[in-house]
Amino acid sequence: MEIKELISREKIERSIKEVAKQITEEYNGKTILMLCVLKGASVFATELAKNIETNVRFEFIEVSSYVGTESTGKIKINKDISSSVEGMDVLVVEDIIDTGRTLSYLKQYILDKNPKSLKICTLIDKPSRRVVDLKPEYNCFEIEDKFIIGYGMDYNEDYRNLPYIGVIEN
Ligand code: IMP
Ligand code: MG
Repeated sequence: MEIKELISREKIERSIKEVAKQITEEYNGKTILMLCVLKGASVFATELAKNIETNVRFEFIEVSSYVGTESTGKIKINKDISSSVEGMDVLVVEDIIDTGRTLSYLKQYILDKNPKSLKICTLIDKPSRRVVDLKPEYNCFEIEDKFIIGYGMDYNEDYRNLPYIGVIEN
């Protein structure tokens, strides 16, 4: 199995800095409740948080799609948030938006808990694969329909620690 680099570490870090700057300006001194979607967004979320110049709280949630029911878009919560999001400015941080089903479900789940605001920040957007209407407010890279790994993203739980984003070539 060979891995080809698609986006370099330097390019990722540069883009994260730019998005963090935009977030810093738009939240203008407010406390952000960063909701990191495990496991994939963990690497991105910590790098992003370090570059945001306003106070950031962390919450984590782990979700998975029900196996074999991709078409129904049913999502299961494996690990739930541990504090209230009511009245908070929630920034959901995700590794990649593909069909959009996961975040569309998650967005409604959080909105039902009455946050003050809710925005989505993703490292990667694959808009050509979307089956629901969902657009992130912040996005570092847009890519074509490719399966990618690294910078938190996995292939059967492997390769999450790669410092760059790659594609598997056989
Ligand atoms: P969605 O519900 O189809 O948007 O799926 C999003 C989730 O699928 C992401 O949070 C990832 O965990 C996973 N995923 C989608 N595309 C890729 C990919 O190219 N590489 C690794 N994981 C992916
Ligand atoms: Mg994920």
